Amino acid sequence: MKTVGLVGWRGMVGSVLMSRMVEEGDFSRIKPVFFTTSQAGQPAPDFGTDAGTLQSAYDIDALKALDVVLTCQGGDYTKEVYPKLRAAGWNGYWIDAASALRMDDEALIVLDPVNGKQIQQALDNGAKTFVGGNCTVSLMLMALGGLFEKDLVEWVAVSTYQAASGGGARHMRELITQMGMLRDEVAEELADPASAILELERKVTEKTRSGDLPVDNFGVPLAGSLIPWIDSQLENGQSREEWKGQAETNKILGIEQTIPVDGLCVRVGALRCHSQSFTIKLKQDISIPEVEKLLASHNDWVKVIPNDRQLSMEELTPAAVTGTLSVPVGRLRKLNMGPQYLSAFSVGDQLLWGAAEPLRRMLHLLP
Ligand code: HSE
Repeated sequence: MKTVGLVGWRGMVGSVLMSRMVEEGDFSRIKPVFFTTSQAGQPAPDFGTDAGTLQSAYDIDALKALDVVLTCQGGDYTKEVYPKLRAAGWNGYWIDAASALRMDDEALIVLDPVNGKQIQQALDNGAKTFVGGNCTVSLMLMALGGLFEKDLVEWVAVSTYQAASGGGARHMRELITQMGMLRDEVAEELADPASAILELERKVTEKTRSGDLPVDNFGVPLAGSLIPWIDSQLENGQSREEWKGQAETNKILGIEQTIPVDGLCVRVGALRCHSQSFTIKLKQDISIPEVEKLLASHNDWVKVIPNDRQLSMEELTPAAVTGTLSVPVGRLRKLNMGPQYLSAFSVGDQLLWGAAEPLRRMLHLLP
């Protein structure tokens, strides 16, 4: 039984990970040691096994005793502790939710329904560092894996509709607070069905622009609006989130000839599901039924939604998908640009397949 150090288990991604591990009975298969950045010595949480007391997440000697470190603590922690731990001669498995090590040569990005073979190969070759992918990238590959696997994709242009949770727990609170403040501003008018809608809208817009809404996390109001920029600004005009699309997709697929992936990443007022609209240039003109078959058979979680209005409205939304492992993909049709141009729309919970689930599964792939 492996001794697994859990770091960052209390945060949002960490909490989702813990609850998935409880659901799947994972704690009976490992010896967990819980770490903390601030409360060493206090009792460890009880997820069905007695795990003693919390250890300091900066105690290199305590970490050195582990077979595996599984961290959701964030990039700053990884940057501080990982090099010290390796320099101290530790040769255990490091499994990480943060992006800090993702593009390092020694790290593999893990998404086993898509790159299970590469993961196995890396383990056979002695790889010890495994990192979860960016959420939009992982969710795209879960949705479109069947086309990538058959080498049918010439390029992908994407527009994302990313949820507040991608920014973190405080971002979610901020969005919901903004929503509440806007609603409260027009409570009276809403209660009166005869009130003038443009007056109601004017008051909401005025409130949005008033400077009263909390914007410490997003920088600008998101409720009733959107933000067409996610993560930092790169010199080439891309946002870092947009840059990750191609860089991580190709690293996960482990292919030699780069598949171009690019587009615009946009924050919207969803809570924890990222949605993505794709234009895919196929390498061949394959029929929609064939596309549907390839997508549906790629993994156990993707679900093809027929290109039907009612089904799309019911099943292809954050409201329907939140909290589930299902990755629906629909709006599949050939575009006016020609028979090799395919549209698709997909939704996925960014805390599950977008963050916690690939890490949880990686734990079980270790030899
Ligand atoms: N960068 C993502 C977002 C988080 O802001 O939505 C998940 O990788």
